[in-house]
Amino acid sequence: MFPKAIISALVAICLLTTQTASSPLHHLEPRNDGSQVLVMQQPDNSLPGPTGLVLKYILLGIGTQNYTCAAPGSTAAPGTTGATATLYDLGTKLISDPLAKWKINTLSGLALSMSSYPQVLSAFLSASGYNIVVGKHFFSSGGVPTFALQNIQTKPFPQVNGKKNATMTAPAYSCPGKSNEGAVPWLQLIDAGGSQGGVNTVYRLETAGGSAPATCADVKTTTFEVAYAAQYWIYGAA
Ligand SMILES: *[C@@H]1O[C@H](CO)[C@@H](O)[C@H](O)[C@H]1NC(C)=O
Ligand SMILES: *[C@@H]1O[C@H](CO)[C@@H](O)[C@H](O)[C@H]1NC(C)=O
Repeated sequence: MFPKAIISALVAICLLTTQTASSPLHHLEPRNDGSQVLVMQQPDNSLPGPTGLVLKYILLGIGTQNYTCAAPGSTAAPGTTGATATLYDLGTKLISDPLAKWKINTLSGLALSMSSYPQVLSAFLSASGYNIVVGKHFFSSGGVPTFALQNIQTKPFPQVNGKKNATMTAPAYSCPGKSNEGAVPWLQLIDAGGSQGGVNTVYRLETAGGSAPATCADVKTTTFEVAYAAQYWIYGAA
């Protein structure tokens, strides 16, 4: 249905570099209450570690970073208004995938490049088993970065109301995005109050694209969006 050449071209866009990540330990660890947690090592980063927490979800976010230019065409730097993304379950498949460590480093860029062709993206996600939408990422009316996993069947559903605690520049191997704008930083977000459903910490890792231009010089509108993809590794109390 989708010409091989298109898919190979898409794959080529964002698989230009290779990266050595520490080896993930991928297995499910049963807990005392019968539920399970993911055991997998984050790709190499310099953020504060998730000390004392357990990994609950690895999600692929595909969406937009939203920016503003009060004076389009000016040399002012754009402002940030938030982001919105659909969150897909990656963890369930990755934990039993012997190739997980290589996929983790390349999936965001691949998904971002495919997102220009929604049918290609959808076919890829379905074929890989990454097509389950667990929820969404958005900014609340108060500007709080929120991760609402409303399709997870726990009561209440897992949700992190986050605040940025630490940040690092995305690694050099990151996919720079559809306009070569650069990958948004990697982040650690901790509970800003009111997180629920057994989760309280989010790491934004393996980012692809999403950065604002340095200035509003080439921007024509007062608000604009830049497509991005990222992995959200979500943790909670053990
Ligand atoms: C970001 O842009 C998207 C797409 O236009 C929009 O649906 C969303 O409400 C915006 N979110 C914020 C926080 O500006
Ligand atoms: C928040 O960041 C600081 C500075 O990097 C770090 O020392 C601290 O452990 C982090 N907090 C959490 C809860 O990880």
